[in-house]
Amino acid sequence: MKAAVIGAGVMGPGIAQVFLEGGFDAVLMDISEEQLKKGVDMIELVLTQKYEKKIIAEKPEYYLKNLKTTTDMKEAVSDADVVIEAVPEKIDLKKQIYDQLDEYCKPDALIASNTSSLPLPEIFPDFRKGNFCVAHFYNPPPILPLVEIVKNDDADMEKITWLRKVLEDCGKTVIVLNKFIEGFVINRLQTASAREALYLVNEGVISAEDMNLATPASIGFKSVWQGSFQTMDFIGLDTVAHVYNLLYPKLCNDTEVPACVTDKVKEGKLGLKTGEGFAKYTPEEAQATSEQRIDRLLDQLKLWNKHYHGIEVE
Ligand SMILES: NC(=O)c1ccc[n+]([C@@H]2O[C@H](COP(=O)([O-])OP(=O)(O)OC[C@H]3O[C@@H](n4cnc5c(N)ncnc54)[C@H](O)[C@@H]3O)[C@@H](O)[C@H]2O)c1
Repeated sequence: MKAAVIGAGVMGPGIAQVFLEGGFDAVLMDISEEQLKKGVDMIELVLTQKYEKKIIAEKPEYYLKNLKTTTDMKEAVSDADVVIEAVPEKIDLKKQIYDQLDEYCKPDALIASNTSSLPLPEIFPDFRKGNFCVAHFYNPPPILPLVEIVKNDDADMEKITWLRKVLEDCGKTVIVLNKFIEGFVINRLQTASAREALYLVNEGVISAEDMNLATPASIGFKSVWQGSFQTMDFIGLDTVAHVYNLLYPKLCNDTEVPACVTDKVKEGKLGLKTGEGFAKYTPEEAQATSEQRIDRLLDQLKLWNKHYHGIEVE
């Protein structure tokens, strides 16, 4: 099985790594040689970190020998069984890529977009009917287990089941959405939670610093090991009905992002990448915070693999 990943930006290299870790061949394609080089360096770095933490059994070279890079679309996709498109979220650009894929891909190749927001099979209904779907990976793809596959009305269920199995063989946790919905499942949950967090801070109920403590120490802590519906079963549905009935009408239902975010955007305070968001970061602090985040997520992945997959690397 050979996978081709189009676009070597934030997401593409990590998606290619997922297939490599599953034992498959992968080719990473981009119009920029520089992006391809950065992408391969990133794959090598994350494989090294995973090997050092005993999350994967083999050294990076073992996986990297099955990776190719190219700036030539035809070379990338002509013998691919699955193509994951991960170019920027611009409809004209996606269309340009799909025209090329239509020309060069095998007739039965499955093509999936990593789009965050676009109902692409509905926007391009004639493109590879039945063989085109959304497969939404989470950032960073080699660490976050979830992939959301969106089954559009024209999708061939056998193909969707095949992609699900391939991704599961790569160690991913795959869910299939029966239809397109804005934000898919998890970005909707994340947005609902962020809206309430912003509301509570804006109302002066809690500081942003304390909010940062609250979620990992409570719902975040538990939610790695129990799903939403299991949590309600643990609470007891009588309590759920009573408490949620009281709270539903009290929750924030704003339809616009509050000024405490949009003002910062206007001022160029975009978070870690500009040195200031809700907190301030020197370049050294930003670097250390990013490294610590990856380190902790990898520790979590190790526990995840042990508990959910029974995998422990010696
Ligand atoms: N960044 C995230 O956290 C994230 C998460 C989930 C989904 N997504 C989605 O994944 C897709 C890619 O996002 P990203 O953040 O990796 O984008 P990005 O801008 O970081 O990278 C896109 C890459 O595509 C390349 N590219 C541009 N035109 C191309 C062409 N004609 N042929 C081949 N390559 C081309 C660019 O050179 C760049 O390297 C988007 O649809 C986005 O919505 C992003």
